[in-house]
Amino acid sequence: MLAMNARQYNEQTMKGLFRKIYPVIAEQAIARTGIRSGLCLDLGGGPGMLGIWIAMSSRMFVVVVDPLVECIELACDNIVEHRVADRVTVEVGRAEALPFPDGAVDLVVSRGSIYFWEDQRQGLREIFRVLRPGGWAYVGGGFGNKELRDEILAEKADDDEWNEARRERGSKHPPGHFRALLAELAIEGEVESGDQGMWIVFRKPETRA
Ligand SMILES: C[S@@+](CC[C@H](N)C(=O)[O-])C[C@H]1O[C@@H](n2cnc3c(N)ncnc32)[C@H](O)[C@@H]1O
Repeated sequence: MLAMNARQYNEQTMKGLFRKIYPVIAEQAIARTGIRSGLCLDLGGGPGMLGIWIAMSSRMFVVVVDPLVECIELACDNIVEHRVADRVTVEVGRAEALPFPDGAVDLVVSRGSIYFWEDQRQGLREIFRVLRPGGWAYVGGGFGNKELRDEILAEKADDDEWNEARRERGSKHPPGHFRALLAELAIEGEVESGDQGMWIVFRKPETRA
């Protein structure tokens, strides 16, 4: 996302057409990982609505991380608007160099961002580093479920540029691309693809005594 259209993304997409997907994806991430408390990063969170819904759907503390200062400023507005400032904060940062110590994080969620990372391998390595033993990652993209996806695709049917960019992202990053990355990094996980979208899901193993 270019800095110049972050505001438009926040108003028209995140709080407009996409608004219904974030509570659904937040519930899915929580149900799939079983993490309900501790520290969550919403990585590449843009104006922060997934992280905000994670906080509203659990007891977690959330940090919205994004490289774009303008997105982070919009996330601050959204955090105040949704009255979650006691549990959601922001940090400028990028996946490839996460500004967090080793083992500090219980859950990393990230929607629609990995496709834009300069170095996905390094980003996944960084997620693994910051997770605590037993912590989970839920990273990928999608619209929540079939109903919401169909609604969004119908609304966007005439937006050739958007559809072309989405097709390109999908063909460049099939599930096998991410399975190969996990294998290279020796991270045990699943790449799940279906009506919910495409999600890379893994748990950092517990350390043995
Ligand atoms: C399509 S937006 C998705 C925003 C939000 N997660 C959502 O679901 O609506 C992609 C986001 O990824 C961020 N991004 C781009 N490169 C990144 C990187 N290397 N590390 C982390 N985030 C990045 C962009 O700034 C942007 O906010």
